[in-house]
Amino acid sequence: MKKINRTEEEQNYLLDAIDAFNRKLLIISPDFKIVAANNTAMEGYAESIIGKPCHEIILGSSEPCETCPANEVMKTGKASLRYDQCSAFNGSADILCLYSYPVYRKDEIDALVMLDFDLKALKNVEENRTRSNAFLRNLINNAVDGVIAADPTGKILIFNEAASEFTGYTVEEALKDITIRDVYPDDGAREVMKMLLSEEYGGVGKLKSYYIDGKRKDGDIVPIRLNASIVYENDEKVATIGFFHDRREKIKMQKELEQTHVQLLQSEKMASLGKMAAGVAHQLNNPLSGILLFTKLVMEDYDLPKEALEDLQRVLDDAMRAKDIVKELLEFARQTSHEMKPQDVNAIISRTIFLLENQSIFQNIEIEKNLAADLPLIKGDVQQLYHVVMNIILNAADVLEDGGKLTLTTYFSGEKNRVCVEISDTGTGIPDDVLPHIFEPFYTTKEQGKGTGLGLSMVYGIVKNHGGHIRAESEPGKGTTFFIEMPLAENKNGGD
Ligand SMILES: Nc1ncnc2c1ncn2[C@@H]1O[C@H](COP(=O)(O)OP(=O)(O)OP(=O)(O)O)[C@@H](O)[C@H]1O
Ligand SMILES: [Mg+2]
Repeated sequence: MKKINRTEEEQNYLLDAIDAFNRKLLIISPDFKIVAANNTAMEGYAESIIGKPCHEIILGSSEPCETCPANEVMKTGKASLRYDQCSAFNGSADILCLYSYPVYRKDEIDALVMLDFDLKALKNVEENRTRSNAFLRNLINNAVDGVIAADPTGKILIFNEAASEFTGYTVEEALKDITIRDVYPDDGAREVMKMLLSEEYGGVGKLKSYYIDGKRKDGDIVPIRLNASIVYENDEKVATIGFFHDRREKIKMQKELEQTHVQLLQSEKMASLGKMAAGVAHQLNNPLSGILLFTKLVMEDYDLPKEALEDLQRVLDDAMRAKDIVKELLEFARQTSHEMKPQDVNAIISRTIFLLENQSIFQNIEIEKNLAADLPLIKGDVQQLYHVVMNIILNAADVLEDGGKLTLTTYFSGEKNRVCVEISDTGTGIPDDVLPHIFEPFYTTKEQGKGTGLGLSMVYGIVKNHGGHIRAESEPGKGTTFFIEMPLAENKNGGD
């Protein structure tokens, strides 16, 4: 220890300061005898203490105490703090702290300084630290986002429950068996580290709201929004911490929203097109009736050559066909009134098949029926329901000209509380750019004169009108399936 030369005045100040110090301060020889004491110590122990063994004064014991810091200082040559079994030193039951350090002369311990400390304050610090540690642990554990911290080698230090949920690893597994590299696919962890070290992603040491993939224990990929930062201690990188927000739920909701939006657009378009079609149909009905009537009159009233009669018959046939189309248009626009009654979907399907299967277009088609027994009745208009089944089957027959299979399936879905009908064919399938349009009125890919494009738009209108739902799935080259769900005539589940 370097000797400082002090003036007498300085020395006096130092002594006064030591005396004014309101903790007991003893100076002890290496054989534990008190060689000096400050005022507070002198006042604390009634009798004269100089020259007496410290253990006798402090603990009333004849032997030096095993756990005394003075003992420790003598053994190790270094300062020592003890806060147990020392209450006697300052008389208070819950203040238990003694601090001792050596005073060297040359290389030998010349004396020991013994100080009592107010451990109450120290205890509070300790308690506060324990409490705030527990609070932080709770905060991290209950965070909605996954929190993962890792040391610079990648060893995981913190792994909360949300992290466990999105990765599929238990907390114990994460802390013991894996590294941060295992929660990203490929070289993800390195990529994140690179970005953390770059300026571009929210400043050096930070990565803000970055979309990345996470990897689960089972290998599945989870879309993540990541906020991460490097943790420094005295300018040294000690860890990285990441907050992982699982985006699966949000993506699912977004998709559902988009789907609902598309459906809404679809039904709006159908409704307005339907109204327009109904208007046109009404307008056409009168002139068509006129054409039919006057053509018939001309054919009956005049003695016309055979060729002329044949031509007029053409006019009549085409006008009839136009009238049929108008009738279908009105049907599509729900302009005709119908009777809604409980109906057996299986019976409607069977009868439609019975009517159609002997037609020549069904010659090469294998028909399979998987109709569920005990199918509940649905509420509907029988004519319209025939129309639905008929139109879908006729479309299928068109694409099964060279043979194939038509499958009709019915079942009850308890979950949806609906009767479900699936009609699939092994035909050409529907190209992706055609599929979104098939329910639109007048949309047809068939050559002129073969299709009006009204079939499926009517089907759509009828199913919607019955409170049902229809959609089509198709794989070009493999076939098409129409899925129909219809509400029941009587509530089976007791729900709506
Ligand atoms: N099972 C199917 N396989 C392949 N394409 C189909 C099938 N069903 C419908 N389509 C496609 O959907 C279009 C629209 O069908 P929709 O029944 O509305 O009209 P259409 O059959 O062309 O004419 P219409 O039924 O009025 O005679 C069809 O032109 C066809 O391109
Ligand atoms: Mg059709």
